Amino acid sequence: MQVIRDPQKLILALKKSKAGKNKTIGFVPTMGAMHTGHLNLIKQAAKDNHIVAVSIFVNPQQFGPGEDLKFYPRPLKKDIQLCRKQGVDFIFLPDNKIMYPDGYSTFINVGRLSHLLCGAKRPGHFRGVATVVAKLLNIVKPDNLYLGQKDAQQAIIISRMIKDLNFPVKVNVLPIVRFKDGLALSSRNTYLNKNERTSAVVLFKALRLAEILVSNGQRNANRIISRMSQLIEKNKKAKIDYIAIVNQEQLKEMKKVKTGSLIALAVKIGKTRLIDNTIIGCI
Ligand code: PAF
Repeated sequence: MQVIRDPQKLILALKKSKAGKNKTIGFVPTMGAMHTGHLNLIKQAAKDNHIVAVSIFVNPQQFGPGEDLKFYPRPLKKDIQLCRKQGVDFIFLPDNKIMYPDGYSTFINVGRLSHLLCGAKRPGHFRGVATVVAKLLNIVKPDNLYLGQKDAQQAIIISRMIKDLNFPVKVNVLPIVRFKDGLALSSRNTYLNKNERTSAVVLFKALRLAEILVSNGQRNANRIISRMSQLIEKNKKAKIDYIAIVNQEQLKEMKKVKTGSLIALAVKIGKTRLIDNTIIGCI
């Protein structure tokens, strides 16, 4: 496994390792603090491709003022060990200066998709995500990109950007990985104290409630959202940021739930903002 910090060096190393052999590259972009969700993406990339590249970069452009950029966990040694264990071939480990040198001026805005749901609460977040992912795709030039469904809006926005800008890469979105009690794995779970960790299951419980209501015949999105809100509000540590029922293509709010509707929510547990979602199966 090679750990490479310089984009030009990575471009050359990947070119050399692909050279004339029709090998495919699977790419998993991360901000580190890896958990089983990331490892699943890496495992799938290894299954599907000859070469696996992982980036570890806590991208300052996707954090707003007052967000957790400073505190975001950075267990680099452990992350590198985990990647080695999974058989990763290349880790790209750039720093801020190399990604955004003095005079850096180019950003990618993926239209209105970026201003809805999490984008409404975190202005500039998806501009930062789209910009860094575009840069990473230009450096790694993967055949396959692996993303987690937990960040549903991110996956939708990146897929849109890839389509709009003709990046020659296939997007693979893998299911959410959960703890036994239902909490979705997230690097930000490490911020939760014991009581908050217990409370955090409320996101999953609210999504389960929505699924049960739908399977019992409820289709009215407002009623479902209202029942989810009631459940969450019973928990003193939880503060709803948003709950939305939208279509997956345009993140457009839906009055009636349909097959394929995305139910997404963001809830603050203490000071930690968590997100989760479910897609309604065949109804
Ligand atoms: O999901 C993440 O970890 C980040 O948003 C990503 C895609 C690596 C871009 O910084």
